[in-house]
Amino acid sequence: MNHETIEKTTGLLGVLIVITVSIGGIAEIVPLMNSAPAVEPAPGIEPYPALELHGRDIYLREGCYNCHSQMVRPFRAETERYGNYSLAGESVYDHPFQFGSKRTGPDLARVGGRYSDEWHRVHLLNPRDLVPESNMPAYPWLAARGIDGAAVTTKLERLAMIGVPYSDEDIAGAAAAVEGQTELDALIAYLQGLGTAVGQRR
Ligand code: HEC
Repeated sequence: MNHETIEKTTGLLGVLIVITVSIGGIAEIVPLMNSAPAVEPAPGIEPYPALELHGRDIYLREGCYNCHSQMVRPFRAETERYGNYSLAGESVYDHPFQFGSKRTGPDLARVGGRYSDEWHRVHLLNPRDLVPESNMPAYPWLAARGIDGAAVTTKLERLAMIGVPYSDEDIAGAAAAVEGQTELDALIAYLQGLGTAVGQRR
C-alpha cells in the first residue's frame, strides 16, 4: 500500500491518524494513572472549609477571574508586591485552579489577611467607596442572598469522590457551617483564606 492510496482513502487515513496520535497520548497518560500524585499538598494546605468553598464558587459565578489572577510568579517584581511566589502544592484542592493571567486588578493569591473583613464588605458592595479610581464592579446583591446548606453538603460529597480528603464530620457539619451566612460572608471568608497557609504578603 503506497502513500498515495492512504491519502486518497479518507477513512483509512483517519484510522491511521487516530492510531498514531494514540501512541503518543497513551505513552504520556498511562504512566500518570499509575504513579503517586505528582503534586503533594504544600505544608498547611487543607481542603476549603464549607463556607470558603461556597465563597469560591461565588467567585467563579461572578467572574472575578476575568480581572484577577491567583498566581504569584517567581520574579522579584511579583514577590516584592504580592509575597512568596505560588507553589503547585497550594492548588491541589482547587477544582479547577484559578491561576489565570488577566490582571485588570491585582493578583489575589495572597490577599488573605491583608485587609479586614469590613474592608472587603465595603469594597465588594461598592469598590469606589474605598478606591475612588477603581473600575471594579459593585456586587451589592451578595449581601442579600443566603446559602443553601444542602447544596453545599453535596459539593463536599462530590469533591470527596474525586479525592479531596473531606472527612465524614466535615460533610456532616457543612450545612451548619453556612447556616445564617450570606453569599457576601462566604466570598469574604474565601478571600481571607487565600494564600495564608504558605507565604504571607509583606
Ligand atoms: C472589571 C474588572 C474586575 C472584576 C470583574 C473584579 N475586580 Fe476586583 N479589582 C479590580 C481592580 C481594578 C482592583 C484595584 C482597585 C480596587 O481596589 O478596587 C480590584 C481590587 C480587588 C481587591 C483588592 C486587592 C488588593 O490587593 O488590593 C479584591 C480583594 C478584589 N478586587 C476582589 C474581587 C472579587 C472577589 C471580585 C468578584 C466578585 C472582583 N474583584 C471582580 C478589578 C476587578
